[in-house]
Amino acid sequence: MIPLIFLASLLALPADTFGAPTNVVPVSGQSISLLRRNPSPRDATQRGALAKRQRDNLIAKYGGATTLKRSTGYNSIVNQDYDSSYYGSLAIGTPAVSFDVILDTGSSDLWVASSSCGTSCGSVATYNPSSSSTFQNLSTPFDITYGSGAAEGYVAQDTVQMAGFSVASQGFAVVDVVSTSLLTSPVSGLLGLAWQPLASSGQMPLWQTLASSGSWDSALFAVQLTRYTNDSSAQTLEPGGVLNMGYTNSSLYTGSIDYIDIPGTDTYWYLPLTSITVQGTSITIDSGTTVAIDTGTTNIGGPASSIEAIYAQISGSQPATGQWQGYYSFPCSTTVNVEVSFGGTTWSISSADIAFAQLSSTECIGAFFETTTGTGTPSWIFGDAFLKNVYSVFRYNPPSIGFASLSSVAIAENGAGGAVPSATIGTVSAAVTNTSDAPRGHALSASLSALLFLAFSAVLLL
Ligand SMILES: *[C@@H]1O[C@H](CO)[C@@H](O)[C@H](O)[C@H]1NC(C)=O
Ligand SMILES: *[C@@H]1O[C@H](CO)[C@@H](O)[C@H](O)[C@H]1NC(C)=O
Ligand SMILES: *[C@@H]1O[C@H](CO)[C@@H](O)[C@H](O)[C@H]1NC(C)=O
Ligand SMILES: *[C@@H]1O[C@H](CO)[C@@H](O)[C@H](O)[C@H]1NC(C)=O
Repeated sequence: MIPLIFLASLLALPADTFGAPTNVVPVSGQSISLLRRNPSPRDATQRGALAKRQRDNLIAKYGGATTLKRSTGYNSIVNQDYDSSYYGSLAIGTPAVSFDVILDTGSSDLWVASSSCGTSCGSVATYNPSSSSTFQNLSTPFDITYGSGAAEGYVAQDTVQMAGFSVASQGFAVVDVVSTSLLTSPVSGLLGLAWQPLASSGQMPLWQTLASSGSWDSALFAVQLTRYTNDSSAQTLEPGGVLNMGYTNSSLYTGSIDYIDIPGTDTYWYLPLTSITVQGTSITIDSGTTVAIDTGTTNIGGPASSIEAIYAQISGSQPATGQWQGYYSFPCSTTVNVEVSFGGTTWSISSADIAFAQLSSTECIGAFFETTTGTGTPSWIFGDAFLKNVYSVFRYNPPSIGFASLSSVAIAENGAGGAVPSATIGTVSAAVTNTSDAPRGHALSASLSALLFLAFSAVLLL
């Protein structure tokens, strides 16, 4: 899910907002999803980001390595509503209470529904600050708006555990008001897996705390997502794949991982988009076009003219109407072949993922939809419809995204059924304390969001 953010705040973000690591403590024993600004000529913001990165690296190198046990962990993912969303689990507080959270590489805030949330949070599990001895209230307001809804509350810190890692004083938001479209039981919140400058809370994201503190064997995380969209016997919850933290699992991919550097500053996870081929015909793409790689978005959004050009290659397709506004329909009998490239390897998208929904026995809705993003943000968003086709690696340094072909072991998990993973928090094997103060005055308000208007309300339509 791509949040609406105020670009000027990103531009104004001071580079040097990171303090020295404190209390990096190894403990024994455990286990457990951006858009950046468009590429621009090297400017002050970019240089600032480079400076920040270097500093983080030094902190990791000289602050963490000697005292911190490097480790890895994984979190089993759940596939919700036939590939509509993918969630994992983490635990917050002392004693630790586990929550299911959407894994979202398209935003940078962790938030969970609060016990004082009331009806807007429905019947999901909620976080009760008064039950946690390690809760600290930062008392700053939090609000974030996504294309599909909004969440509001305040910023706090507490111990957060995931995949065998424990981070003390992790910043996150305790949410009192949330659009119903954002929380489908059992999901209680969202874990933003993009970079700190995008965080409405100003807090360093959990993954970035772990990567920059040297907690991980390799400073990266990787994602494998399952496909159930074309399985007529699928349940609303199915095994969803895995989030690997600090390593890549070579059982899940074949060949090498093709890394492409993020072409600008670290906010979103994004890449250049260099080609899209539909039924063998190349679609015209403007040079400089970028695409956000977003586990929190179900489908694939792009500019209206490009989406039109894509469907022009699929005979019998037409713009859909009503709740499907912005989408197109096409004959289900047509096998649609799509290939994409980000400047390296060419990746195929399964026709099963292109046929996102079936309107009638003959008419299907395609995964490509029209969206408008703000100036300075990627104009395309590649969500799960693409990510189900690859093993995806999100690398901290150099900031880059890698894709590899799925192994037969990973492919065999598609539509395989089996037990839905329950919250897997495990025993803590590595613990760190947050390495950053929240950048002062960086809390973004949704009312300031107008500059970056994104319309992709179809994210959670199903
Ligand atoms: C935390 O601070 C916010 C803002 O001052 C306040 O609304 C909220 O009730 C506080 N939460 C707790 C648990 O004290
Ligand atoms: C779903 O699509 C994949 C990829 O095309 C295919 O291998 C698989 O057999 C399909 N599953 C079902 C149940 O049709
Ligand atoms: C790697 O993936 C395979 C297949 O899912 C799994 O059996 C194995 O436990 C995983 N290993 C690690 C270290 O995550
Ligand atoms: C992390 O948490 C501490 C304790 O709440 C807080 O003072 C600060 O905002 C953060 N930064 C550091 C360096 O501890």
